[in-house]
Amino acid sequence: MEKFIIKGGIPLRGNVKISGAKNAALPIIAASLLTEEPVTLRRIPKVSDVFTMLNVLKTLGCKSYWKDDALTLDASNIISTEAPYELIKKMRASYYVLGPLVARFNEAKVALPGGCALGSRPVDLHIKGLKTLGAKVEIKHGYVTCKAKNLEGKRIMLKGQHGTSVGATINVMMAASLSKGVTKIEEAAMEPEVVDVANFLNRCGGKIEGMGTPIIEIEGRKKLKGTEYSIIPDRIETGTLLIASAITKGNVIVKKCNPEHNRVLIHLLKEYGVEIQEGKDYLNICPPKTVKPLSIQVGPYPSFSTDLQPPMISLLSVTPGNSTIVETIFENRFMHVPELIRLGADINMIDRYTAVIKGVKQLSGAPLMASDIRASAALILAGLVAKGETHISRIYHTDRGYEHIEKKLTRLGARIERVSDPDAP
Ligand code: EPZ
Repeated sequence: MEKFIIKGGIPLRGNVKISGAKNAALPIIAASLLTEEPVTLRRIPKVSDVFTMLNVLKTLGCKSYWKDDALTLDASNIISTEAPYELIKKMRASYYVLGPLVARFNEAKVALPGGCALGSRPVDLHIKGLKTLGAKVEIKHGYVTCKAKNLEGKRIMLKGQHGTSVGATINVMMAASLSKGVTKIEEAAMEPEVVDVANFLNRCGGKIEGMGTPIIEIEGRKKLKGTEYSIIPDRIETGTLLIASAITKGNVIVKKCNPEHNRVLIHLLKEYGVEIQEGKDYLNICPPKTVKPLSIQVGPYPSFSTDLQPPMISLLSVTPGNSTIVETIFENRFMHVPELIRLGADINMIDRYTAVIKGVKQLSGAPLMASDIRASAALILAGLVAKGETHISRIYHTDRGYEHIEKKLTRLGARIERVSDPDAP
């Protein structure tokens, strides 16, 4: 295993380019199963979750190869419709193969992902959606088996107790694209990643309208065709680097991003005290003169993203005054808090969903453990301003979702090193 060693105290300066969005790349790779023609994807981030998804597709018989930065997928010769637990347990998003497999091959057997570090994370809405389209669904021995002669378009409401679902909206949208008739998803997730998958499916010959709004209409097709497609920039990486600049009082130009996808964060960072200039595909964040605490409630897009809550807590940990963050999406998304407290942060959990953060003058470096992708980003950001050395172990979590993060930060002047971690817990 490996760990990061960070020596804090350097303001980040310079330019950084944003990679393609992991959370758009994963479903779009799965969606390539919907066509027998080759699909070529650009701007796929080379992160370990992408390689896990490619392994799932390989088990099914889908071929893939890279040429420079273009990934081509060929699902013309699928030999299996079963995604085994060994792969699904590594990454919940492997579940995205369910919709495409049942739509194209009339059957799919996919292991139930179970819970994860963020909480129970059920898949009932995915199943509800596919059942409404006409699939017969059975859960046995830890697997979901889906069978359908022909999926047929219907009206589906996809809201759960925690609000809309990105995954269920995408899974149902993929399946509905290769079905008979028209599907109307109500209470659909509006995340930019949902829109990107819809745009990809339309490029394959699909007919989807309303993506980015709560009602998505999908006119099913008998067949979809191959295409070339470029993934949107990663708004969570963008946000993480903007917050990294703010926390180190740096001056960073984040390039090749889409500022429209980070509207709420930009607004909050301005309220916090930084000046941000923007162009169509860049954001220039200047050092703050005075800073203010914030009160934030997480929510589905366009609200503040749960994936940026952990890095934001790191920023507020060193911001004078009392800040509050209310998480509403996942019941266990504060695993980074006890680690930040080890650095000297003053954070009080009022209940499972509410953190009150009293800004401290200085964090001090310590050995830490990452628990999930975004928690690891929070720890890195805290390490960038902590006095002395911060060691972060279990950085395989970071590698799941951030492409070359330490290289990007090093180019901005950070002192961050990846070393082997023989004592890894
Ligand atoms: C996606 O997860 C992202 N993952 C997550 O990013 C992100 O945090 C999340 O959306 C919310 O924005 C990918 O895109 C691969 P949901 P997803 O379905 O699709 C509940 C990261 O670090 N729910 O929108 O799984 C669920 O438990 C990851 O990149 C049901 O109740 O999230 C949660 O409370 C972490 N039933 C809420 O809905 C279901 O069938 C939203 O989940 C499905 C979800």
